Amino acid sequence: MSADLTQTLTIPRPDDWHLHLRDGEMMRAVLPHTARNFGRAIVMPNLVPPVRTAADAQAYADRIREAIPSGCDFTPLMTLYLTETTDPDDLEAGFDAGLITAVKLYPAGATTNSDAGVRDLTRVDAVIERMAARGIPLLTHGEVTHAEVDIFDREARFIDDVLDPLRQRFPTLRVVMEHVTTEQAVAYVSGDQSGRLGATITVQHLMLNRNHMLVEGLRPHYYCLPVLKRARHQDALLRAATSSDQRFFLGTDSAPHPTHLKENACGCAGVFSAPNALACLAQTFEDADALDRLEGFVSRFGAGFYGLPVSEARLTLERCEAPLRPPDPIQVGDRSVTVFDPLRPIHWRVRP
Ligand code: NCD
Ligand code: ZN
Repeated sequence: MSADLTQTLTIPRPDDWHLHLRDGEMMRAVLPHTARNFGRAIVMPNLVPPVRTAADAQAYADRIREAIPSGCDFTPLMTLYLTETTDPDDLEAGFDAGLITAVKLYPAGATTNSDAGVRDLTRVDAVIERMAARGIPLLTHGEVTHAEVDIFDREARFIDDVLDPLRQRFPTLRVVMEHVTTEQAVAYVSGDQSGRLGATITVQHLMLNRNHMLVEGLRPHYYCLPVLKRARHQDALLRAATSSDQRFFLGTDSAPHPTHLKENACGCAGVFSAPNALACLAQTFEDADALDRLEGFVSRFGAGFYGLPVSEARLTLERCEAPLRPPDPIQVGDRSVTVFDPLRPIHWRVRP
């Protein structure tokens, strides 16, 4: 133990309920950073081409398992990418086999690798009906994509125009609103009485608002989708995450892209936070005087929503007197991936 340690916090091994691992060389480079600290992760299916069938999910899960460093206790929870040709029987068979945990809805064009997403929701009625009947959660990228809707309004419009009507048509459907970014989303989840609605929140949306991205220079490493919103929304997210309301849980949305494609005239969306997500969260919860609430948010509530046991393994966070250096970029072949840096002192780290 280093001499300047001021405090420790031991919690059940956390889970990440929204994660992009990519594939191939990138996957092998980023996976250890998650597998070290998280017991399980919901793995997003937006590969190119996407993970569309149970067979795709099986092959992807096999590739992930092969890349888990030895000694790491990590379970990938696989998702299917909902398309207008998703076969309800294939999905159900994968779910029954324990291979598929959930289905991801990307409105076509909403974000990175979403071109194969759903254009007309009524075309997936048969799949949704089966999911509602079988309790298979639908994970939503909750943004409308119409060109005329301002990007800062796209999440709120999705709730009113798409999500709420869908949930009224399928009242037993279980839904996780992924990476919520607005007070409207927080209010929608908080007001729900069904017990079938949850939401993930990312590290960056708790720590940052759009001023951090746009004032005193444009910070491309803060650009993600849904885009950072104004401070009022950040405050609402922070209140939700620190409220001990079990419907809100951690999904880092850690989404690696090579640095040169982020620092680009047309930079891509995604923040890579896997290496320091827990350290940043501990700092955020400490600053909100809510360290005692961190455990529920990162280690308990997501497992509860998915009907999985809370981990029996333990993870210890330790607070150091002196702030820690932000992590170096990681190398992926001859490329680098920049790690999330909230540009504020972080005193916490996961005990090595
Ligand atoms: C994600 C990615 O890069 O795959 N990017 C992001 O900004 N969050 C896609 C997503 O989750 O929307
Ligand atoms: Zn994502």
